[in-house]
Amino acid sequence: MPVPLTDKFRRPITDLRISITDRCNYRCVYCRTGNEGALYGDLPFADYLRMARVFVSLGIKKVRITGGEPLLRNGVIEFVRELSKLRDIDGEPIEIALTTNGHLLADMAKPLKDAGLRRVTVSMDAVDPERFARITRVPNGYDNVLAGIRASRQAGLWPVKVNCVLMRGFNEDQIIPFGMFAREEAVTVRFIEFMPLEEDRKWSPNTVIALDEILQRMAEYRPLVEIPHQRSETARRYCFDDGIGEIGIIAPVSHPFCGHCSRIRVTSDGKIRTCLFSVWDHDLHELMRRGASDEDLADFIRGVVEKKEERHHIGEPDFVPASRTMVHIGG
Ligand code: GTP
Ligand code: 5AD
Ligand code: SF4
Repeated sequence: MPVPLTDKFRRPITDLRISITDRCNYRCVYCRTGNEGALYGDLPFADYLRMARVFVSLGIKKVRITGGEPLLRNGVIEFVRELSKLRDIDGEPIEIALTTNGHLLADMAKPLKDAGLRRVTVSMDAVDPERFARITRVPNGYDNVLAGIRASRQAGLWPVKVNCVLMRGFNEDQIIPFGMFAREEAVTVRFIEFMPLEEDRKWSPNTVIALDEILQRMAEYRPLVEIPHQRSETARRYCFDDGIGEIGIIAPVSHPFCGHCSRIRVTSDGKIRTCLFSVWDHDLHELMRRGASDEDLADFIRGVVEKKEERHHIGEPDFVPASRTMVHIGG
């Protein structure tokens, strides 16, 4: 039995995120510029599949497909079908999940589920169509995304998670409406603290709506009860006092969770990133292009995992911005 991937801080690395494109049909204010922005490009699915196979042979148990917007890529359903054939080092099927903006999800939820997708996370930053348009900078997306969320629930992609990045001046008044939404739509809504990973470099500590403020606002609506969460999970979990509706808070800025990080990422152009805030990446695809064997790739990955950063330095005087922004890393 191989020794599972573990970094030098003894964190087991079990969660791989593969970005399959850095294109996106939305231009969310916390992520992209209003213009076209840079593109690093993407690879044939066969290359991502080979990478995934090698990672899984080293101890990865969960693969999340991200972007950019992953549903923009033709062939994503077939990719999920191929991934679902992989078995982890204990012989169990891997868990396959997808993060999407939901715009194209309504028609794809059922085929994705049938292909082997287990769960979906949909980004949605307002429960009001006009506000939604102001944040995503595209008109008329709201109805599509809502339909995508409902279709996912119907298809059995359970639990459907909704990610809401909160930004002061844009959507802090959406906290209570999202509490109601979680209850009415039977989805888990996770509020995320805004991190300095956007193309526009507009982050400052003042733009962050932090965990305490979110809890305070929500308590004005209904009392919350904390539910235990797994240590490697990013979100603190809460349900309302009557047991109806779950919300989560992902607080990387005010309550960092790097000490239990289990994640590693591959960008759409085939570079490994050991942290969202890495200032370099590791070119796995170049190695493949030069004819490396699976064993060579495995050795490279083990070496890269050794270099995983201990933690991020958001808000500290020595903070250096990541060498890529979120849309070019994968959320
Ligand atoms: P599950 O919780 O497994 O369903 O996965 P998910 O992708 O839906 O959520 P996850 O909690 O993994 O990621 C949600 C958001 O949390 C991301 O979009 C990021 O904003 C943030 N996040 C995820 N991983 C990290 C990380 O390693 N470091 C930091 N600082 N933030 C992260
Ligand atoms: N800070 C926090 N989360 C972000 N995301 C994108 N940009 C940021 C940011 N600057 C999250 C969104 C999206 C996922 C892909 O990444 O929630 O759902
Ligand atoms: Fe696109 Fe996601 Fe970035 Fe929004 S957060 S612009 S949906 S990649």
